[in-house]
Amino acid sequence: MTPDTLDLNGKVAVITGSGKETGIGACIASTLSRNGAFVVINYVSHASASRATGVAESIREQGGKATVVQADVSTPEGSKELVKKTLDVFGTGNIDIIVNNAAGGTPHGALQATRDSLDTIFSTIVYAPIFLLQAAVPHMPRGSRIINIGSIASKLGMASTAIYGAAKTAQDSLTYSLAMELGRSRGITVNTVSPGPVVGPDDKSGGKAGNDR
Ligand SMILES: NC(=O)c1ccc[n+]([C@@H]2O[C@H](COP(=O)([O-])OP(=O)(O)OC[C@H]3O[C@@H](n4cnc5c(N)ncnc54)[C@H](OP(=O)(O)O)[C@@H]3O)[C@@H](O)[C@H]2O)c1
Repeated sequence: MTPDTLDLNGKVAVITGSGKETGIGACIASTLSRNGAFVVINYVSHASASRATGVAESIREQGGKATVVQADVSTPEGSKELVKKTLDVFGTGNIDIIVNNAAGGTPHGALQATRDSLDTIFSTIVYAPIFLLQAAVPHMPRGSRIINIGSIASKLGMASTAIYGAAKTAQDSLTYSLAMELGRSRGITVNTVSPGPVVGPDDKSGGKAGNDR
């Protein structure tokens, strides 16, 4: 199946951390939109505001329906705000697709970890998907999808990404358990897509190494 043969007409999709035009999140949003979904572009940093607006405009120019919501998904309040604004803007009671793409922090090994750096990485990669599902699940009908963007770093044991890899492993574990919890009780599927290195939005390696932390 090619990416453009899905029938997502009228489905509402929230893609966290999708405000940078060359990032994985913006590409996912654009693809979901091409297949008919209404998409929510989410960002957190003020510095990314104009880029997020640009992502949504570009989707609208191609005939899609997109809105932008600034929210910190690593807090319960931010996740609730994202869900509320999504429902308000699209005038719907449903959220059909959540893509947990946001990830914060910078690369470092365990010896460089600080309380703050651990908090940033774990709160965006592990806590955020939990807070967002708590806010969104009451509005997700049977057949809805939650997709976590993982990383091969969860399995490779790379020294320079020890903390990030550990957080992605915790996220993988959540996927397995939530697939059981939400699949059985509510008919919501939960999956992880684990990319290898991808040239990210602020890649400084000239595309050689990807931007995976
Ligand atoms: N690029 C790679 O090589 C690669 C490989 C494997 C997996 N991945 C995964 O793919 C995903 C996207 O990676 P990427 O490289 O395209 O982009 P990225 O540079 O990791 O950017 C992710 C986005 O997350 C957003 N974000 C951070 N904290 C947030 C928060 N608290 N609330 C809402 N948004 C927040 C940031 O928004 P602001 O711009 O507003 O700060 C940022 O634009 C990540 O989960 C990453 O771990 C990437």
